[in-house]
Amino acid sequence: MKIAVYPGSFDPITYGHLDIIQRGAKVFDKIIVATLLNSSKNPLFTTEERTEMIRESVKGIQGCEIEVDSFDGLLVDYVKKRKANVILRGLRAISDFEYELQIASVNRIVSDEVETLFFMSNNKHSFISSSMVKELARYGAETKELVPDHVAKMLHMKYGIQKTR
Ligand code: PNS
Repeated sequence: MKIAVYPGSFDPITYGHLDIIQRGAKVFDKIIVATLLNSSKNPLFTTEERTEMIRESVKGIQGCEIEVDSFDGLLVDYVKKRKANVILRGLRAISDFEYELQIASVNRIVSDEVETLFFMSNNKHSFISSSMVKELARYGAETKELVPDHVAKMLHMKYGIQKTR
């Protein structure tokens, strides 16, 4: 069974992330979407909120089993514990490369057995990031083209403001 772990902060999940999961669903038998607990990035959403938003968002994806989980500690340890074969990551643009190379290289130092596979996101999603989405929502802008409706609602609830556009 080909199992991939798709790790991330997912603060919150965007259509860019969902595009990568959809692409992965054509290749893997199972994808474990794993949210990082205790991120140093000081997330806007709690782990429960992030995992719940992911669960709701992946409901319609077909082609492989999708599990939503959270993890703490080193990613490679989690990957081994879950008996997965690879780490799945998305690449949006060349600007992602350095960061991703760093993560993949560190993971390889920790364990040479775990491979990282990169999927290129659809050009349509190459500019979407969770940070951009939060920035827009903070100022009341519409985010429905970037995230699923239920995530857009959560963002506006979090910032406690009505959208202006
Ligand atoms: O969505 P992100 O924030 O870019 O995801 C980063 C993530 C969660 C993949 C990375 O920070 C991670 O794996 N953290 C767990 C700790 C770890 O294993 N660190 C070594 C590799 S950076």
